[in-house]
Amino acid sequence: MPVNGEAPGGLEKKPPPGDDGVMDFQDFKGRSLLTWLDYKPEEIRALLDLSRRVKEESRRGGAGRRFAGKTLALLFEKRSTRTRCAFETAFGEEGGHPVFLSPADIQLGAKESLEDTARVLGRMFTAIQFRGFKQSTVETLAAYSGAPVYNGLTDSFHPTQVLADMMTLEEAGGPLGGKKLCFVGDGRNNVARSLMVICSKLGARFTVITPGELSPDRGLIETCAPLAAASGGDIRVTSDTAEAAGADAVYTDVWTSMGEEDKRAEREKLLRPYQVNSALMAKTGRADAIFLHCLPAVRGEEVSAGVIDGPLSRVWDQAENRKHTIKAIMLATLGCL
Ligand code: CP
Ligand code: NVA
Repeated sequence: MPVNGEAPGGLEKKPPPGDDGVMDFQDFKGRSLLTWLDYKPEEIRALLDLSRRVKEESRRGGAGRRFAGKTLALLFEKRSTRTRCAFETAFGEEGGHPVFLSPADIQLGAKESLEDTARVLGRMFTAIQFRGFKQSTVETLAAYSGAPVYNGLTDSFHPTQVLADMMTLEEAGGPLGGKKLCFVGDGRNNVARSLMVICSKLGARFTVITPGELSPDRGLIETCAPLAAASGGDIRVTSDTAEAAGADAVYTDVWTSMGEEDKRAEREKLLRPYQVNSALMAKTGRADAIFLHCLPAVRGEEVSAGVIDGPLSRVWDQAENRKHTIKAIMLATLGCL
């Protein structure tokens, strides 16, 4: 089923353009990142390759001035450590000027319509990052600002996170095609939903292990299933932890996402049997299955200290990769390559 007018296509069917096989990123200029659904598999692949180059440059101490003269509005309705710091340091160290704005600072739909705020921000900033509650807010900002808008997390999606997750998975175990990633926990949350989208574009096999009450919504599964079929991946949803068998990576996230604090007791009851601990990791049947978590983590809830602090955990690489992937997204979409 086409998504946003895009015909699903496998990586192998559409090699990246460019004489030397390297994408020139002209088609990225001016684009927003709201979900990944409107990015082609080969475009996401190109961003992963660029992220790797950005990371190598960073290791060599080589930040340039590629965002010099540009400005970035960082709008946050919800808290953040990694996302804010990744955007702010990636943009600032290349000569750009990031401006942090909380709801206490600006009229974000209060006293002024969101559309009007978007129009004004678009006149003053090169790009806008939004983290908050409604997906419709980030979509309105993109529609009315005329600037590239990056979704830094909404209740529905967390797209910048999952590019870093794919980078980390690939660093740990090589090509993503055919890799099995198991998300164990709240299957309806923003991270699980975004993993479903990106895995289905990149040919990874994505299994959500979650109690029936927290299954991802059918609409998203129906959108992603044909994309997964076209890329050589698949999507499974189950309540059975035995389906972690053969996983290359086990991923979890908090039981209660930001904005759902009133559901804490209910989630604790539903998700306690799904804690990622050594017994759950053993169900993969593999000694080399890695552990991933977007962070922040609650040790003793969704993950045991033994797993997150153990030898198979890649969570600190994953956190670092937020910065490299976010820099790559901005370099491409701001035409700075
Ligand atoms: N993973 C992530 O988005 O972390 P923050 O909430 O700290 O930004
Ligand atoms: N699902 C979590 C992700 C935090 C990065 C939340 O929305 O709180």
